[in-house]
Amino acid sequence: MTRGRFISVEGIEGVGKSSNIEYIRDILVDAGIEVIVTREPGGTELAEHIRELVLDPQTKLVPLAELLLVFAARSTHVTQRIRPAIERGVWVVCDRFTDATLAYQGGGRGVSPELIYRLAAAVHGDLWPDLTLLLDAPVAVGMERAAQRSALDRFELEQAAFFERVREVYLELAAAHPVRIRRIDAAQPLPGVQAEIDNALTPLLKQTKNSC
Ligand code: TMP
Repeated sequence: MTRGRFISVEGIEGVGKSSNIEYIRDILVDAGIEVIVTREPGGTELAEHIRELVLDPQTKLVPLAELLLVFAARSTHVTQRIRPAIERGVWVVCDRFTDATLAYQGGGRGVSPELIYRLAAAVHGDLWPDLTLLLDAPVAVGMERAAQRSALDRFELEQAAFFERVREVYLELAAAHPVRIRRIDAAQPLPGVQAEIDNALTPLLKQTKNSC
């Protein structure tokens, strides 16, 4: 059986991840692909508990504790859901993965990338997304959209400088991994965003057709 593909979607707050993930799911389903949509931190019972804790503005966390919690969540998610799905031939669309840790805990909180890569190797070995869509927009655009949400979480309460550092790491990652990570201009009107997503998905969809 052909293994499923692993797609992650990344970006700072307010760049339209949720609606674009729905769009990606629809494209895959229309192509006859079995797909699960999941998220990080989250995706398993334990990881969803960890998510609540990590996003709660009342939770006081030092950066290292925050890092270990996101990896604890990821460990269950990879083992219980992501790997088994991929092995069954199912495609996984994940709202964030380890690039978010490099951007938020690395860029935002100042944790060393070496430590993050070591934990990543322990938690998911060589499993990295086949394709990462980085929805990118200036921080002011994202923050304005995110501010319209009813209750802000622990990260959404951060200042612009935090998100500038997060965005900078995302852009560095995209430059360092130009094949895996596709930057999508999320500040343009939706049809343009969707056209860029279509382009980014085409090679993966073609590979799948050819292998059938
Ligand atoms: P979101 O998925 O609704 O955007 O919220 C998840 C938040 O968690 C977001 O602010 C980014 C943050 N996060 C990290 O800080 N590190 C991580 O590894 C992941 C997956 C998310």
